[in-house]
Amino acid sequence: MKPIIASYRLTRSVARRVALATLAASAIAWLAPSAASAQSVPAVTAVKGAESSAVVDEDTDTPYVPTPAEVVERMLQLAGVGAKDYLIDIGSGDGRIVLTAVAKFGARGHGIEIDPRLIKRSQDAARKMGIADRAQFLTQDLFDSDFSKATVISVYLLPKVMQLLTPKLAALAPGTRIVSHDYAMLADWGPDLALRMYVPNKPVGRDKHSTLMLWTVPAPVAGRWNFQLPKAQGGGRVELAIAQAYQVLSGKATIDGQPVDVTGLRIDGERMRFTLEPPGKDARLRHEFDGLVSGERVSGSAVFDGQPPTAASRWEAQRLR
Ligand SMILES: C[S@@+](CC[C@H](N)C(=O)[O-])C[C@H]1O[C@@H](n2cnc3c(N)ncnc32)[C@H](O)[C@@H]1O
Repeated sequence: MKPIIASYRLTRSVARRVALATLAASAIAWLAPSAASAQSVPAVTAVKGAESSAVVDEDTDTPYVPTPAEVVERMLQLAGVGAKDYLIDIGSGDGRIVLTAVAKFGARGHGIEIDPRLIKRSQDAARKMGIADRAQFLTQDLFDSDFSKATVISVYLLPKVMQLLTPKLAALAPGTRIVSHDYAMLADWGPDLALRMYVPNKPVGRDKHSTLMLWTVPAPVAGRWNFQLPKAQGGGRVELAIAQAYQVLSGKATIDGQPVDVTGLRIDGERMRFTLEPPGKDARLRHEFDGLVSGERVSGSAVFDGQPPTAASRWEAQRLR
């Protein structure tokens, strides 16, 4: 019996050498998108074969299973990929997501992939398609890679890998979109959008469906913000306390110490919106704020008392330290 190694970090370098060959046969069971199937797989398995000390961490070594072409297109549409985007496919397989993003959606990007043979295949395809200057492929381990250049990330990776990646992806620049085939982030970061599609030629799973999910990295806005209302609105001092769990916000506010309702509080990447509804006021006379977060400041425009925005409706709040 080979030793069981619990840490993915310890097993990765060994697993890397044997994972693709040894796991190819189990790919179908592995990537069937059901929580039940994922959970039923043992965490670590000793591998019989050429490398006597080889141990594969089945939770973190995602086998190569290509995303069907129609799913690739739908993922890129869901993420709204366009000419301004830089896409990174994490575990890029034969390169199809990056190649499609570049050739059909006008983006630039690169794939990172642990298997050099798949990297070679991807690079050859990019050259043949005449897009090698905009679609690049790097032999890299996803656990050691830098994704900071991306405006869009695509993933088709096992649940455990998704969980390990969640903190790193959540720390990317606000506004970065992440699109995943079949597997979610950590449970408390639900997708902004999810859709299920019928995929008759899907190579894995019995039900021939794929689930596509989209997240946008939210700016971190938890804390206490304050600002002054314009003189025309009484010049009161607003304090807004925000609690945040990824893109889910809740807020409490006061104007000059008097509680006011906060409604419609939301964050989309760097864009924060909310409405203050002073008690007893006509609902049309509420204050609506819409701004971009930049570190400890948020600034934008506001609709005060239901009036159309003017130059005086600029608004800026500061986070209290
Ligand atoms: C399910 S396939 C997805 C391929 C491609 N993204 C697609 O959707 O068609 C996952 C890929 O991740 C690669 N992979 C697995 N572990 C990796 C690691 N630690 N670093 C980089 N790539 C890895 C595999 O070799 C495989 O090609």
